[in-house]
Amino acid sequence: MAKGLRKGLTSYGDAGFSLFLRKAFIKAMGYSDDALERPIVGITNTYSDYNPCHGNVPVLIEAVKRGVMLAGGMPMVFPTISIHESFAHPTSMYLRNLMAMDTEEMLRAQPMDAIVVIGGCDKTLPAQIMGAVSVDLPTIVVPVGPMVVGHHKGEVLGACTDCRRLWSAHRAGEIDEAEIEVVNERLAPSVGTCMVMGTASTMACVSEALGLSLPMSATIPAPHAERVRLAEASGKRAAEMAIAGSPRPSEILTPAAFRNAAIVMQAIGGSTNGLIHLTAIANRTEHALDLAEFDQIGRDVPVLVDLKPSGEHYMEHFHHAGGLPRLLMQLGDLIDRTALTVGGSTLGEIAARAEIVPGQDVIRSVEDPIKPEGSMAVLYGNLAPRGALIKHAAASSRLLQHTGRAVVFESVEDMAARIDAPDLDVGPDDVLVLRNTGPRGAPGMPEAGYLPIPKKLGRQGVKDMVRISDARMSGTAFGTIVLHITPESAVGGPLALVRNGDMIRLDTTARRIDLLVDDAELERRRAALPVVPPPAWTRRGYARLFYKSILQADEGCDFDFLVGSDEL
Ligand code: FES
Repeated sequence: MAKGLRKGLTSYGDAGFSLFLRKAFIKAMGYSDDALERPIVGITNTYSDYNPCHGNVPVLIEAVKRGVMLAGGMPMVFPTISIHESFAHPTSMYLRNLMAMDTEEMLRAQPMDAIVVIGGCDKTLPAQIMGAVSVDLPTIVVPVGPMVVGHHKGEVLGACTDCRRLWSAHRAGEIDEAEIEVVNERLAPSVGTCMVMGTASTMACVSEALGLSLPMSATIPAPHAERVRLAEASGKRAAEMAIAGSPRPSEILTPAAFRNAAIVMQAIGGSTNGLIHLTAIANRTEHALDLAEFDQIGRDVPVLVDLKPSGEHYMEHFHHAGGLPRLLMQLGDLIDRTALTVGGSTLGEIAARAEIVPGQDVIRSVEDPIKPEGSMAVLYGNLAPRGALIKHAAASSRLLQHTGRAVVFESVEDMAARIDAPDLDVGPDDVLVLRNTGPRGAPGMPEAGYLPIPKKLGRQGVKDMVRISDARMSGTAFGTIVLHITPESAVGGPLALVRNGDMIRLDTTARRIDLLVDDAELERRRAALPVVPPPAWTRRGYARLFYKSILQADEGCDFDFLVGSDEL
């Protein structure tokens, strides 16, 4: 099989000419024949002025290149899409599959023997991993790393759990305009990803647990020199993999690797988005993720990492306590220690080498967990025939068993228009329902599942209510929130049938979410549902592709034509 520059020649009907032309053009950049004969490590560049989370990418790229050259390889950097959570309209999730396609096709189109993907902001690592898994060249994932923490009035602050908490306090009149402006400057004090256990941190931990990143990749703070050295080491290892032709993602991503990642997700109090992304990654292989197994793992695996939003600390504290290797050590036989990683060690060998940090209280033992069960539970019931998710580790325990009256919002716009209305008929024991916010309905499943507490209740001191939707929520959010109701209302899921005043029962122990309306009435309501034509936004372009191809949350929200591996 051809290697390096000879791979994947552009088609002119004459292979010799194709190589001649390729070399003629690349020599315009000043490369020597010696350089061009080396195995190539392709390095993705997701730097963007719109993406502050990736602000250290140029430094990391230089370090990866240095590592590749130290090991005798030839680094070649190329751009792909970059997505920042708060600069992506309508949602970053809407663009994840576009980034996965861009990454996959550029990896396929250009000659390379191994890949280093550098990313981190929420949807970027999932997109990059999905693309790389489908291409199945030897791949190392280098997360950009979390931000360092901020400080305000003696309090430690972090994006974006504290963004939400302090904004809620501002809405409730507890923080004035001047102070919220000061807070705004202190929530994100460095480049890097959100430093709580949001989606970015979750997916960095998942990548390390899957064996796709070198040890400590998930937790080293973005501005630290240690991260630059990790990038260099990743480049070096990628060059070795380019020469050897292995290990490929298909050799790393076994059922055991996916199970390990699911265990880690539960033990870190991971983001609910992580389950969608892990499902999408698994569906690119031969090993689908089983939601029932994920729930069972949640019953067996305690939350051990004390991080916001379900705990107290931040990613840099997790790092200084020993990072993911130390967590793997604490998980002991719960994980499959024989699973292979890109560095060449097994997960068990990495766990055995974990640093022992005296007195640390961020990574607990199984005997002294933060929560006795994992962070997430999968719910079923007549409201969610194909499942829904609750992050009960970040919920109010008194609301985990709750029956309340539905207060229904038809869309994000409807909710924004009415949630703070003084005459809204709502009480603290009601269940807030938001629909038409699923993968297809919104589109891109906005992180609107964290419905704000209506202002008039917030002013009475109400901090949490049961909220249910077919939306997602940020991994940095907290509350008693049922998400990802599947099928979504826009494709006729039962959420479309709920009416104001209906009673809804959440029974987290029994893993149920039910609408307490009899079947005959539900059938009458279903028959009366209007037929909705495709909305105007689906007329052309990527939006049209998205509308026609997007899968539901239980399938990872990938496009239907991207699932599976080439071998299937
Ligand atoms: Fe980029 Fe949070 S906004 S990780």
